[in-house]
Amino acid sequence: MGLGKKMGMGIESVGILNCSMFFLFILILLPSHYYCSQIYNITASQPLAHGQSLVSPGCIFELGFFSPNGSANQYVGLWHKNISPRKVVWLANREEPLADTDTLASLRISSNGNLELVDRQQNTVWSTNVTMIQVSSSNTSSVAAVLSDDGNFVVKHVIGAGQSIWQSFDHPGDTLLPTQLQGFDTKSGTKNVLTSWRSNKDASMGIFLVGLSAETPSQLFIWINGSIPYWRSGPWDKSKFIGIPIMDDRYNSGFSLDDSLIQGTTYFSYSFFDTL
Ligand SMILES: *[C@@H]1O[C@H](CO)[C@@H](O)[C@H](O)[C@H]1NC(C)=O
Ligand SMILES: *[C@@H]1O[C@H](CO)[C@@H](O)[C@H](O)[C@H]1NC(C)=O
Ligand SMILES: *[C@@H]1O[C@H](CO)[C@@H](O)[C@H](O)[C@H]1NC(C)=O
Ligand SMILES: *[C@@H]1O[C@H](CO)[C@@H](O)[C@H](O)[C@H]1NC(C)=O
Repeated sequence: MGLGKKMGMGIESVGILNCSMFFLFILILLPSHYYCSQIYNITASQPLAHGQSLVSPGCIFELGFFSPNGSANQYVGLWHKNISPRKVVWLANREEPLADTDTLASLRISSNGNLELVDRQQNTVWSTNVTMIQVSSSNTSSVAAVLSDDGNFVVKHVIGAGQSIWQSFDHPGDTLLPTQLQGFDTKSGTKNVLTSWRSNKDASMGIFLVGLSAETPSQLFIWINGSIPYWRSGPWDKSKFIGIPIMDDRYNSGFSLDDSLIQGTTYFSYSFFDTL
């Protein structure tokens, strides 16, 4: 309502050329036409270009190109759409930044079905790098990248069962989102850890690393330089880590640690019903 009224005012005052109203008009139009160019999936025929953003179906998360304040680095990042100031919760190319001046970079589905970030010269700077994607007769139209309302960025087949090829939840940065699993799988040898940014301007891996220790019961550790213990949570005791006094020990606290001897996996996660 307010928007339509103000835009109307802008149009009516063109004849009078009222400067302040002209600027009001521009300010209202710019965000919707430049910054909020939104798409809901990345496909072989629809890459994500600089200046566009990918949004989740419920508009909870947004993914796009950004430069940290005062940095010459440019990244593809993921953040909550409605939290201000923006807090980036995941990054694609954290170790391979683009120059902040590169406005021709894009995130696209490559000919082998991977999601790749290319710079202005079309050089690949980052890729999901999954081998052996079963693309039906080289038809990359059958692969798409979408953002879920839980913040998971997923590359998947869009035909058949919609099988997932790659997901950002398996490659965390410095943030663990609700329902995302942090831990390890001893059979496949995979391990999810959180790692700090080097600085506010440089998102590459810093010196702090958070992960679960390979013992039973497990505990959370913060290590420096990958091996020096800096902090530990104390072992998991059914509903909480015993070394964290403020941790809620009610049965249904929202925190869980699932240990499966059969599958060889140990995962920590959290989920609060009121956020769903
Ligand atoms: C970015 O930096 C400028 C200048 O230092 C500062 O005024 C502004 O608040 C910063 N913005 C954010 C989002 O941190
Ligand atoms: C892709 O995977 C191969 C083999 O695992 C590795 O050598 C290469 O560095 C990876 N490339 C990227 C961009 O991660
Ligand atoms: C590729 O896949 C798309 C989506 O499933 C389908 O519409 C199209 O016909 C396919 N093209 C070829 C050449 O197989
Ligand atoms: C971690 O590594 C850096 C770089 O090698 C070094 O300067 C620093 O002293 C190390 N920190 C600790 C606590 O060992």
